Amino acid sequence: MYVPPGYRVLITGASSGLGAMMAKLLGADKARVAITGRRADRLEKVAEAVRAAGGTPMILTGDTSSPEDAQRHVETINQAWGGIDWVILNAGVGLHTPGHKFKAADFKYTFDVNLMGPCYYLEHIIPIMLKQKKGTIAGVSSLAAFRGLPETGAYSASKAGLMTLLESLRVDLSRKGIRVVSVNPGFVKSEMTAQNDPGQMLFLMETEAGARCMLSGIKRGKRIVHFPKRLSLFVKYVLGNMPGFIYDFGVRRIGRRKSPPGTVFGDWNKAAATSPEKTI
Ligand SMILES: NC(=O)c1ccc[n+]([C@@H]2O[C@H](COP(=O)([O-])OP(=O)(O)OC[C@H]3O[C@@H](n4cnc5c(N)ncnc54)[C@H](OP(=O)(O)O)[C@@H]3O)[C@@H](O)[C@H]2O)c1
Repeated sequence: MYVPPGYRVLITGASSGLGAMMAKLLGADKARVAITGRRADRLEKVAEAVRAAGGTPMILTGDTSSPEDAQRHVETINQAWGGIDWVILNAGVGLHTPGHKFKAADFKYTFDVNLMGPCYYLEHIIPIMLKQKKGTIAGVSSLAAFRGLPETGAYSASKAGLMTLLESLRVDLSRKGIRVVSVNPGFVKSEMTAQNDPGQMLFLMETEAGARCMLSGIKRGKRIVHFPKRLSLFVKYVLGNMPGFIYDFGVRRIGRRKSPPGTVFGDWNKAAATSPEKTI
């Protein structure tokens, strides 16, 4: 069991992948789970699964990069359930952004979803948790936060920004009864990773195994939840401390993707709109 029955949990980006799986697992704990995303049909399916597992779902459609949607979501939960115990800021997008085809718009789009999105929710969640004198805030960063990975500068920078933001908040809020957790997964099966070259995804995990690692780490209130262990220890401690000239030599080749610049991983609405020729 990850949470007591009736716990009030908000998960952003729960229409697929890790967010959807965490919602289902918390449903089995009989939690109340508010799920967000833009695809209403997918949220309906996740809500059905939460209900079937024994939980109480609440569907909140909207765009995580919209301050108005974030405010509306948090207020709706607070009015219906009288507070929030856990928030898992999970919605995210990855873009192929090779340095030689640099487009500021790709970076803005990624930062709006991965970094500003969590900020829009936090602005309204923190006052509620301060009033409650308790709560847990988890943000889903990535192992990509520990070093600038090739051809994914926007993603790496957004996740490093989120991890650093969470660390500051952790210090600021630790004496107020609020726990702040940075979740830094390695490769996990989801829509986001479906187009990646499997040969480049070391220690690729099943979605359920990844979601369980996330929930048990959040439950324990760990400062940083990183997995799978062998990859994450290597990235955090070996790659993280590796001198730049060795790092550059080692990673120069591994990041090359076959997809054209701007390809969006895990954002099917935008991918369909901008890249109709792609298999999505
Ligand atoms: N899978 C991995 O290997 C891996 C590794 C490290 C970190 N992560 C992180 O884990 C999180 C979950 O990703 P995933 O792997 O489960 O991928 P996914 O299946 O593509 O899920 C992404 C979720 O984010 C939502 N989302 C994306 N853009 C949004 C927007 N503008 N507004 C609202 N929701 C939005 C999507 O919902 P809609 O499309 O319905 O809006 C979807 O529910 C992400 O933050 C990702 O960066 C994943």
